[in-house]
Amino acid sequence: MEKKQDIIISQNIAATLTEAIEKVKHDRLFVLTDTTTLQLCWPVVNPLPVLGKAQMITIGATDECKTLESLSHVWTCLQQGGATRHSLLVNLGGGMVTDLGGFAASTFKRGIAYINVPTTLLSMVDASVGGKTGINFGGLKNEIGVFNSSESVILDGVFLRTLSHDNILSGYAEMLKHGLISNEEHWNELLSFDLDRPDYNTLTQMVGTSVAVKERIVEEDPHEHGIRKALNVGHTVGHAFEALALEQGRTVLHGYAVAWGMVCELFLCAVHCGFPTERMRQAVQFIRHHYGEFAITCNDYPRLFEFMTHDKKNTAGQVNFTLLGNIGDIRINQTATREEIYEMLDFFREGL
Ligand code: GLY
Repeated sequence: MEKKQDIIISQNIAATLTEAIEKVKHDRLFVLTDTTTLQLCWPVVNPLPVLGKAQMITIGATDECKTLESLSHVWTCLQQGGATRHSLLVNLGGGMVTDLGGFAASTFKRGIAYINVPTTLLSMVDASVGGKTGINFGGLKNEIGVFNSSESVILDGVFLRTLSHDNILSGYAEMLKHGLISNEEHWNELLSFDLDRPDYNTLTQMVGTSVAVKERIVEEDPHEHGIRKALNVGHTVGHAFEALALEQGRTVLHGYAVAWGMVCELFLCAVHCGFPTERMRQAVQFIRHHYGEFAITCNDYPRLFEFMTHDKKNTAGQVNFTLLGNIGDIRINQTATREEIYEMLDFFREGL
């Protein structure tokens, strides 16, 4: 990822988006939404003169729509709409839209410029920042994609008000992860925020702090050879929970799976890296209180273990974790045995 993306904390979406679009010289403008953001978020920006000639492209709204077919639809709309290498795509939506739109833009005529306007907390603090783009393929999430960052990312709290409590919690899990890998001040701020009655102005400010954590890490290691793996805290187990849920016909939001994944991995942090037990308990209690339980039995262990070994972050069948010795004390490339992973799952089921 050669170019640095502009991350803009916006308090006036009209002015910020206008400026961001005008800054990128372009011949034609396209806006990608999904069916939900077309209804809920497009009206927030639609009256803008700068969008007057924009051509709309819309895809389905769930992660199941993050497919080659949707991608092909976007390419077709760009082609039929006369897009050239100098056209600009604005992605207005959650992580599915910004990932897929980013990939469509990165590959159309070998790459056109794009701007991300994330509309969910999850995409604000994670997906839209850092240049990972892609689609699901062959039953695997984000299997095909490229690293290529947007021109800019606009983070505006106006969209947070359109979100359900579950979706706020889902994004907040990635913020908790950023707290764990950064410093005590940010971590304590996150634990004392009133998630049941969120103050959106405070939350927007915290989004700024959270994204800055990710930005620093991505700048240092854009292609995830080293320290970017810090962003995988909670995800080795979280992805396995998501895959199990999918197989069993249960629905879980990504952030919930990551939060439960963090409970498990904090146990490994304490056992392997001396993460302070009291602090682990505090984090686990916070997560259990807000995110509830994910029901698994010991019959699920072998399948979960298998999912963990298939994670694309692994090499040679080993399960790779990013663990912590304390808040901000990041230990990448840690491994655990099957027995340790089963013990961790016992801890997850049985609690403290
Ligand atoms: N979602 C983790 C990363 O962007 O690396």
